[in-house]
Amino acid sequence: MSTGRGSFTNRLGFIAAAAGSAVGLGNIWRFPYEVGNNGGAAFVVIYLCCAFLLCFPIMVSEIAIGRRTTLNPYGAFTTLSSKRWGIIGVVGVLCGFMILSFYNVVAGWAFGYFLHMVAGDFDVAKDFVGYTTDFWDNLFFSMTFMVATALIVSGGVQKGIEKWSKILMPALVAILVFLIIYALTLNNAWSGIEFYLIPKFDQISARTVYTALSQAFFSLSLGMGALITYGSYVSKNENIVSSAAIVTLSDTTVAFLAGMMIFPLVFFQGLQPSAGPGLVFVTLPGVFETMGPVMGPLIGGAFFLLLCFAALTSTVSLLEVPVAYAVDERKWPRKKAVWVLATIIFIIGLPSMFSTGAVDFFTNFIRYGGSTHDFLSVVSDVFSDALLPLGGFMISIFTAYRWKTLNLSEELAMGYPGYKGSFIEMFINVMISFVCPLIIGSVFIITVLQKFIGITIF
Ligand code: TRP
Repeated sequence: MSTGRGSFTNRLGFIAAAAGSAVGLGNIWRFPYEVGNNGGAAFVVIYLCCAFLLCFPIMVSEIAIGRRTTLNPYGAFTTLSSKRWGIIGVVGVLCGFMILSFYNVVAGWAFGYFLHMVAGDFDVAKDFVGYTTDFWDNLFFSMTFMVATALIVSGGVQKGIEKWSKILMPALVAILVFLIIYALTLNNAWSGIEFYLIPKFDQISARTVYTALSQAFFSLSLGMGALITYGSYVSKNENIVSSAAIVTLSDTTVAFLAGMMIFPLVFFQGLQPSAGPGLVFVTLPGVFETMGPVMGPLIGGAFFLLLCFAALTSTVSLLEVPVAYAVDERKWPRKKAVWVLATIIFIIGLPSMFSTGAVDFFTNFIRYGGSTHDFLSVVSDVFSDALLPLGGFMISIFTAYRWKTLNLSEELAMGYPGYKGSFIEMFINVMISFVCPLIIGSVFIITVLQKFIGITIF
């Protein structure tokens, strides 16, 4: 292992950090509203197929590429091949920048909601727009969140990322379980569960499929080299395949459980699950309000604290990608890299902060695919929904046809003696060489046609 750049103490350290990266706003904020918008259980089924069949082999490849090279994504691709392939790494680092810029804004809302909930001055009548257009509030909340992220990342791999993941993840699970138990005792909880778990397959369209795939990439932190970066801190005697399986399982379990908490809450008040991004920030606060002056702040506060904890270990992994790049390639000291990059990313995020009504120019930023989009949605559409699957496609092509599955197998066999010749080896190789490129590539093209150009496929 290279020494100067840091490493995880052991397998648990890596799993906590990688699961921390995966479990985030994507699970608790985005997944439930995508389910609500895309017809419920049928979406859940497609999502699970994407995660376990298509994304898992890519996760394994990312971690293997990182561990083989002990470098950031750009350094990793160039070391294993040539400068030309380094472009995948450069785009990945850029995605880290841009995704964090808007992610931190949403995390800031969660933090603000949490503070207002526990202070007891949360006002539902003020609603989402009321909160997100309050300039100074938002500036303060998202700046605080970015500072917390930077403090953790500047602590380094073991004393920052790993240590905090091991504290925040168990806390998150405890709050989640508490909230699910409470939600299931509410009236009408069962109709929420029914909507969530009984599939109606006639509701599947091209949109369901590409939304599920983008969501799986985003939720598993794939396609931009976050797991190449974390993989570069993993020691040679650890089993990558089983660690990746645990991370995939933890992430999908938390997303699944978030649905078990949110849909009963929504149906308890007879509300609609299809509110879109406002599901968590508009619909749920309305539900908390009806719980009275004691239970409301308690349940609402617990919910938004959960959201903050989930977001924090994710913002940490997003910041770590450009930081690792600056440390490896530019030889910057970690602390300098952290504070310079966090500041730049925060500034890039300002237009996203203004795009929910504060500044009209950013709120009605651009038209494509038949509707007007605000700045935050544009950044998310481009850098997350389109570029992450494209990155996943490139990573599978790279692994199969440039680095070659032979080398992948060799790397994976370290820490997993029985790997060569096993069924799982065959599965990973077939998926990464044929199935992933084909399906992810096609879905990427469909996403671009339908989402950006407005051509409906099916
Ligand atoms: N997976 C996180 C979530 O679901 C977001 C995230 C963190 C991410 N790091 C990433 C997404 C890297 C893509 C790539 O909230």
